[in-house]
Amino acid sequence: MDCIVLAAGRSKRMKSRLTKVLHTIAGRPLLHYPVRAALDAGASRIIVVCSVDSVATIKTNLDAAFGNAQIECQIQPEARGTGDAARVGLNRCNSDSVAILCGDTPLVDAENLRTLFSVLEEKKASLVVQSCVVQEPGSYGRIVRDADQNVVAIRENSDLRDDYELGINEVNAGIYVGKRAVLAAALGRIGPNNEQGEYYLTDVVEDIAKSALVVAHRGNPDSLRGVNDRIQLEEAESIMYQRIARRHSLAGVTVRGNARVEDTVEIEPDATIEFGVSLRGRTKIESDALVEVGCIIVDSSIGRNAIIKPYSIIEKSSVGGGAQIGPFARLRPESIIEEDAHIGNFVETKKTIVHRGAKANHLSYLGDGDIGEKANVGAGTIFCNYDGFKKHKTIIGPGAFIGSDSQLVAPVTVGPGAYVASGTTVTKDVPADALAISRVKQENRPDYAARLRARLARSADKKP
Ligand code: UD1
Ligand code: CA
Repeated sequence: MDCIVLAAGRSKRMKSRLTKVLHTIAGRPLLHYPVRAALDAGASRIIVVCSVDSVATIKTNLDAAFGNAQIECQIQPEARGTGDAARVGLNRCNSDSVAILCGDTPLVDAENLRTLFSVLEEKKASLVVQSCVVQEPGSYGRIVRDADQNVVAIRENSDLRDDYELGINEVNAGIYVGKRAVLAAALGRIGPNNEQGEYYLTDVVEDIAKSALVVAHRGNPDSLRGVNDRIQLEEAESIMYQRIARRHSLAGVTVRGNARVEDTVEIEPDATIEFGVSLRGRTKIESDALVEVGCIIVDSSIGRNAIIKPYSIIEKSSVGGGAQIGPFARLRPESIIEEDAHIGNFVETKKTIVHRGAKANHLSYLGDGDIGEKANVGAGTIFCNYDGFKKHKTIIGPGAFIGSDSQLVAPVTVGPGAYVASGTTVTKDVPADALAISRVKQENRPDYAARLRARLARSADKKP
């Protein structure tokens, strides 16, 4: 079966510069979902119908995401309606049966297509349309049946003719499977005689029903949701997030509350994703990891048994097994936190390797660094990595100890087992096992505080 995905509409209702089908839900553009449904259903060829303006962007996007030679883009020169777009796609089809999907109905899946296809075969129909019964038919096309319940037409909302049609609550999901030759012939006969002056794909129903069988197969109302504006985008996205969460739950992951896991994320069984977590992009969470409340993890991997404590933000980084991050930690791109290392509250890392078992538990900036195994970085340590022109590296050897409130002015190396005293500004390399200390000697002046207080009090009294 060939599959046509219509994506050349003007998307006026989105009020956006970006073409509608590239707006995302749950981490993927709308268009990816019907394309994937078609691939999963075994379509031999997928023709995406695009407008002149959006074809280049859509093609680049699909190539990057699927890299699949079965997918091709075809141009509909002018947005003259879904019927005209379907005709563009149909010109490229050569299989006996064809599925037509809309690029803006992301909740369709392969199962929908397989079902419609088997109905087509079993009933020897010429066209099967997926329909849904809904409370509020809104702007969807209505399935018009005759007294014997045979489908005779689909009427668009703006063209409803009488009270009977106004009362119909069975609507068109915009998912079709039909015989190619029959569809092609019918599309050649329809005209733009309607309220919007467009060629409606839905008009083929009335045409075909005159001489052949059209079936409306009722499906789950969720799969119908088309996205025409940003409210519907949000509605479709919430359903998608629920579906993704359910998929992970069934596979053995605990996903609590309103955690939002994008479609692209992988999670192994026995991981726990707490409420308010957002997992995005190419993120992978290994088994038994715990991602606590409110964390945001983007394009990163989290190892087995790692704990990401509340409100940590991790981007393009990796966290090894058994490591602990946060609360309130920020791992910026290219942070590599190895097994059993700890990164604590208000610690920011960037392009830094924290080797096995090393710790930086409080209030630090660790940029462009390499922190050796089991080294300890004290509270308030800053890697001064930037001179206004270039970034420089700070290297800390295994087992080294960096006292609190130290600054390491990069490029600089602290040798293995060395000790940097609290409050030191390290500007020269520290040899292995040496102590580095750079602070002014402390002086105590006996009773000075009491005298100072008395003097200050007197001068305050003298003021008018
Ligand atoms: C369409 C159906 C409606 C159905 C609804 C389901 C028609 C006339 N109406 O209405 O019965 O209930 O989908 O969601 O088909 N497109 C093109 N070229 C065009 C016009 C549209 O490629 O010239 C594409 C759009 O990009 C979109 C899809 O076709 O992906 C549907 O078009 P849209 O304008 O959203 O149709 P609806 O009003 O939603
Ligand atoms: Ca639509």
